[in-house]
Amino acid sequence: MSTASPAPSRPQPVGPALMVIFGGAGDLARRKLLPALVNLRADGLLGDAFGVLATATRPLDDASYRNDMAQAVRGHLGGDLDAEAWSWLERRLHYERGDLTDDGLYDRLARRIDALDRELRTAGNVLFYLAIPPSLFAPTVARLAARGLFDESGGHFRRVIVEKPFGRDLESARALNRSLAACLAESQIWRIDHYLGKETVQNILAFRFANGIFEPIWNRRYVDHVQISVSETVGIGHRARYYEEAGALRDMVPNHLFQLLGYVALEPPVSFEADAVRDEKGKVFSAIVPIDPEDVLACTVRGQYGPGTMPDGERVPGYREEPGVDPQSSTETFVALRLAIDNWRWAGVPFYLRTGKRLAERASEIVVEFRRVPFMMFRSTPVDHLGPNRLTLRIQPSEGISLHFGAKVPGPALRLGGVDMDFCYRDHFGEEPATGYETLLYDALRGDATLFQRADNVEKAWAVVQPILDVWQALPPRDFPNYAAGSRGPAAADELLAREGRRWRTR
Ligand SMILES: NC(=O)c1ccc[n+]([C@@H]2O[C@H](COP(=O)([O-])OP(=O)(O)OC[C@H]3O[C@@H](n4cnc5c(N)ncnc54)[C@H](OP(=O)(O)O)[C@@H]3O)[C@@H](O)[C@H]2O)c1
Repeated sequence: MSTASPAPSRPQPVGPALMVIFGGAGDLARRKLLPALVNLRADGLLGDAFGVLATATRPLDDASYRNDMAQAVRGHLGGDLDAEAWSWLERRLHYERGDLTDDGLYDRLARRIDALDRELRTAGNVLFYLAIPPSLFAPTVARLAARGLFDESGGHFRRVIVEKPFGRDLESARALNRSLAACLAESQIWRIDHYLGKETVQNILAFRFANGIFEPIWNRRYVDHVQISVSETVGIGHRARYYEEAGALRDMVPNHLFQLLGYVALEPPVSFEADAVRDEKGKVFSAIVPIDPEDVLACTVRGQYGPGTMPDGERVPGYREEPGVDPQSSTETFVALRLAIDNWRWAGVPFYLRTGKRLAERASEIVVEFRRVPFMMFRSTPVDHLGPNRLTLRIQPSEGISLHFGAKVPGPALRLGGVDMDFCYRDHFGEEPATGYETLLYDALRGDATLFQRADNVEKAWAVVQPILDVWQALPPRDFPNYAAGSRGPAAADELLAREGRRWRTR
């Protein structure tokens, strides 16, 4: 492929702000948030008037926190660490120890925010980041509000980033939204889904709406069906407590998979303003045909991995043998479902979603499979076995886009073969060190909410999933474990598509 066209003018560094990280010593902060800030600085996207105030329960002060984080950030960025950017950030790291259930902590935080604001000239702007257990989201926000820390009357911003999970079902999602709305304006609530920080996800919109050639065929007339797969090779690691409560459906579907679905299926927004895009995404969720409880078992597949061998030869235990997991657990580690979107563009086009742990390969991708040609004039050749055209948007591990089509194999006989035209981000644009949080933090700091979730859309997504949760709970699985670790998932997931003459696309 030829080289990229000249880049448009470089993005500007974000203005003054203090970032207050609740759970600032936890896994998310050390693995993602601080490394992302270093990368933003290295890219010239963080201005000088910036600082971080971290808070957690462990006994640290500014100096020991900086030390601790230096190791963490070095460990995660390794050779990609920009030493200058790190030493810039390190000087701006501050720590306040305390328990979030203690009102005294908020007085201390308020004082430090004021002091740091003066010292670092952050203009009163504060981005609060809730990197804490979900049970603490609502009480922490309530205490911050009571302390007056969300007041924007001085013309500065006060924003709160909330990490998923946004509830564990429709009712709790509504309750969380109500408690956040009692303390904050919707414009102050930034619900983050790190999937939307990935280049390919953002590129779905660019791909669809910046190119004249795809949009005309992006509809029921040309698209046979869409597959959205997020398969992981990892198990549940040390997250048994969380995962036992959540399961694959809650953990992945109403958030990550629905975001991908939304971007693939939405109508062209009138602009790339946050609400224009989020309105269109919401319309897609509203148009998803509610699954009748009687149809749940026919439209969905749940699975749980048993022991098995991963493709690299590693023997791994089954889910029920993982530390911290109930040996009788009926928590699903795999889910596949078929959804229908009842609107002008997509009526009759199935959307198949699947995600699971301990699968044979790590791959997140969207496959748009097009209808076959109406008449196969190569009938007498083996080409009638040729697959349909497919457009694959790869999100991980290697971000890119490929188009599968048939071409004549060179030679005197007319033989066709399937070929791929492939675009790989890394090959074309080179690789930038990234955690996936850079874009999202940058956007939150500059006030662009396009990639963040809005309350109504969160509830719409849960509304689609709720009948599945209800039926699954009422009818516990009888065949778990039903797939071996290292396999492609339960056979029933293949049958879900085979019944309709289709199959999952794998590389
Ligand atoms: N890790 C990820 O990659 C990831 C990805 C997506 C979403 N999330 C979400 O991000 C949030 C944080 O996850 P995590 O993995 O970073 O968890 P974690 O490693 O357990 O960190 C939790 C942090 O919260 C602090 N904390 C807990 N209870 C507290 C209390 N009562 N008062 C003050 N601080 C308290 C802990 O303080 P100490 O440090 O003192 O123990 C710790 O710093 C969760 O909501 C999770 O669902 C995480």
